Amino acid sequence: MMNKESGPLADGTDEEPATPAVHADGLTVVRGPRTVLRGLAFDVPRGQITGLLGPSGCGKSTLMRSIVGTQAKVTGTLDVLGRPAGHPTLRTRIGYVTQAPSVYDDLTVRQNLDYFAAILAPGRAAAERRRTDVTRAIDDVDLATHADSLAGNLSGGQRSRVSLAVALLGTPELLVLDEPTVGLDPVLRRDLWNLFHDIATRRGATLLISSHVMDEAERCHRLLLMREGEILADDTPEALRTRTDTDTVESAFLHLVDQAVEASRTKEHTR
Ligand SMILES: Nc1ncnc2c1ncn2[C@@H]1O[C@H](COP(=O)(O)OP(=O)(O)OP(=O)(O)O)[C@@H](O)[C@H]1O
Ligand SMILES: [Mg+2]
Repeated sequence: MMNKESGPLADGTDEEPATPAVHADGLTVVRGPRTVLRGLAFDVPRGQITGLLGPSGCGKSTLMRSIVGTQAKVTGTLDVLGRPAGHPTLRTRIGYVTQAPSVYDDLTVRQNLDYFAAILAPGRAAAERRRTDVTRAIDDVDLATHADSLAGNLSGGQRSRVSLAVALLGTPELLVLDEPTVGLDPVLRRDLWNLFHDIATRRGATLLISSHVMDEAERCHRLLLMREGEILADDTPEALRTRTDTDTVESAFLHLVDQAVEASRTKEHTR
């Protein structure tokens, strides 16, 4: 069971108790000539699933890359598990699945996981823990029957589950998953969402999951709705539906987009 409480960290310092998993204020990211994230302010609470939703190009992957510390030109405040994003001690505390599956095609599923497990926990002393960890991660994503298949011979959905299994190694406190269910069939999507809930409730981990699929939003504890590099709403699915007087998160989102467009038009007219 993962320790949800704050306490002494691997670097020997104490973490501020009850800090959110992610805290952002005035978070701005510039990519090339464009300001892609515009002064975002939000918190991601611990031990819950937060969905990051919004249309293609709104900045979801950029925000995730900023949180895991791989994005350049990030300004403003961005704290992750009580440390500035990108802090070296965060490396083993965060699991990240990129939008495109990143696995070695010429290795089997188990060899891929063995490789990443050895990076996370090197040395002979950790061999037994690595073996248990790898087997558990393969079971978690339901790939036990394909453990000895070459990753290059798997289907698209199976390959993305290998990436997810890599992120689950070492029981990270924060999982950042960029569209983990794209291209999966409904049964597998349901099973993965059950796994995400299990990881949050039983292991106490925090999950930040991006998606364009609005019905998945209903399965999150909280939602960050984004549009054009800004946050339109930060609330529970229920509160969003109530606030906008709609039946689904999809309708709530469309309602908020219309409101935002209207507000920016009015602003232009009064200039
Ligand atoms: N290397 C880059 N240089 C300049 N602009 C970029 C670069 N990469 C991405 N962008 C721009 O940044 C914006 C946000 O991209 P991002 O990938 O974060 O969006 P997204 O919400 O994840 O989209 P999708 O749902 O399609 O994955 C887009 O407008 C994109 O064109
Ligand atoms: Mg993306």
